[in-house]
This record gives sequence, C-alpha cells and structure tokens, in this order.
Amino acid sequence: MTHNGSRQEDGSLEATALAMVAPGKGILAADESVGTMDKRLTPVLDTEPTEEHRRAFRELMFTAQGAEQHISGAILFDETLRQSASDGTPLAQVLSGRGIIPGIKVDTGAKPLAGAPGEKVTEGLDGLRERLEEYREMGARFAKWRGVLAIGDGLPSDLCIAVNAHALARYAALCQEAGIVPIVEPETLMDGEHTVDVSEQVTQRVLRAVFDELARQRVALEGMVLKPNMVLAGYESPQQPDHEEVAERTLRCLRRSVPAAVAGIAFLSGGQSDEAATANLDAINRLAADEGVPWQLSFSYGRALQATPLSLWAGQTAQIQAAQDAYLELARRNATARDGSYDPQQDREFASAA
Ligand code: 13P
Repeated sequence: MTHNGSRQEDGSLEATALAMVAPGKGILAADESVGTMDKRLTPVLDTEPTEEHRRAFRELMFTAQGAEQHISGAILFDETLRQSASDGTPLAQVLSGRGIIPGIKVDTGAKPLAGAPGEKVTEGLDGLRERLEEYREMGARFAKWRGVLAIGDGLPSDLCIAVNAHALARYAALCQEAGIVPIVEPETLMDGEHTVDVSEQVTQRVLRAVFDELARQRVALEGMVLKPNMVLAGYESPQQPDHEEVAERTLRCLRRSVPAAVAGIAFLSGGQSDEAATANLDAINRLAADEGVPWQLSFSYGRALQATPLSLWAGQTAQIQAAQDAYLELARRNATARDGSYDPQQDREFASAA
C-alpha cells in the first residue's frame, strides 16, 4: 500500500472498509444533525421535536431485529453517539452488539464559501484529530464528511471544487491516522434543471479533483470508502434518463475517475424516491456484473431508508413495529439491488400494503 509508514492500523482499516461494503449489505446514514433531524421530524409529529424524539427514532432503527442481515454499518451524529437505548445500553453498542459497525459524521456542515456566491465549503477540521480520538474510544470505526457542489450558471467553480477536495483529503488523512475509515463524500447536487450530460461532466470533474487531493495527501485508497452521487438529471429537468442510462453514465464516470484500489463505493440517495434509489442501484449492479468493475457498489442511504419508517412511526409507540418492518423491507430491497436482483413488482405490492 502507498501510505505513510507511521500508520499502524492499515490492515484493520482495509478490513473495516471491506466489511462496510460487504456484498448483500449497505450502510444506514442516520447522521442527520439536530437541525436536519428536526426538519424531518416536524412534519410527522404533532409537537415540537425534542432530543427524546430524535433518540427514540434512532433506537427504533438500531434495534430492528434482523437489520444486520442487510446493513453493514450505521452513521451516527455526535448527539446520537452519546445517547443510550431505553435499557441503558449506549446506542453504538446496540449496533456493534449485532454486528453493525458504528460510524460518525465529523464535518460541522457546509458554510458559504467566501468570494463564491451560491457555493459552499464544508467545515470541521479544527480540533478534528482530538475529536476522532474520542469518537474511536466511544466505538466509532468509520467516519463521514460531506462536501456539496451545486450545479448552476457557471457553477461549480474550480475554486469550490478545489477547497472541498482539499478539506475532504485533510479529513481522510486524519481519520486514517486515528485508525478510522473515512467515507469520502463529494456530493454533486441534483437540484435544478440541468441535463444528465452536465451532471456527468460535473461529477467527473469533482471526482478527479478529489482523487488528486487524496493522492497528494497520502490517503490509503484501500482504507477508504467513496460515497458519490449517482449521475442523474436535475430533479426539475424535463428530460429524465431511465435506470439503464443512469447506470451507464454513473459507471462510465466512476471508471474514468476512481482508482481501482478504492475499497468500495457506497452511493448516497440524494432527493430520489425510495423506489428510484433502489432501481438505479439495481441497474448499476446489473451493468457492473456484465462489464466487470474493480469495486463493490453499495448504498449509504439516509432518506431512502428512513423517510417511510419515520412517517409510519410519527412519534407513536404503537407504531414502532410497523416502522421497523418498513425499514427492514427497504433494507432488504436495497440489499437485493446489490447484485442486480431487485424485483420492482414486489415493491408495488409492499407500497399498497403499507
Ligand atoms: P441521503 O441518502 O438522504 O442523500 O443521505 C445520505 C447522506 O448521508 C448524505 O450525506
């Protein structure tokens, strides 16, 4: 491996990274910040969201029996890593006890980038070395940092791509030093009317810049997981590609920009519906099986795994089982999309039963 000799734990970094993208499984991204989680809770609750609502929803998701068959890891937010289940067991331990690897979101959010109207840079590097040490002691074995790139008139700028790539690499190098696998997430946003062509070009520019920086900053590719967007058209574009075109463009873009040594790729769902996120992952894996790719192609979904359970639960204890059942079903479906064997017919049956 090409890495700095001072890193003692590359063996376990690689093993953890491979476990995160193990075949037939994917990652639950349950790392919404307090503000984002409250934004998701507000429409489904009939009261103001509290810390207890956030804790109870995470407990529901983490204690769902059998999730470990389809879920390899879960990303937590700082608050959640410090919370416990109703029986007093720390939530990270609830996960690791059933073989789900706990991870932690360590960025502190995307802030306006000075001198670049409409663009953002993700912050959180100050004190990160110390925070990583504490998170590792609390059980986290991987981390996440998300950079966001908006598409628009003249956007993203080279400046925005460069500063986000630089921060992602700084974060990734610090994680590996701490024995934590970095999830490197450069998200090209699909908000807007842009075509799928533009989306492919921008995603490629972004990924190339990110891997240049990762190389410059001596990040061991075998000990990281890439979390990219799929190549879609803007959500408001009148011309939407079908799942096969998404697969073709996404794989072409990845082949042109992601080194084969990367341990694995886990897509984010972005603003896609549950169904679209699953069907696109399925098409990507079907095409990958035909053409051959060097990486596992997995998922690290937030909304596509949680939106339905959250609205079914709506803060009601009596609804916990129904919410857990929906989560397990969504996890199972995405797990089947890992080898291209997802059956959308079953999807429709479930939707009408729910
Ligand atoms: P979504 O799947 O809802 O995009 O969330 C994934 C994530 O972790 C974004 O940072």
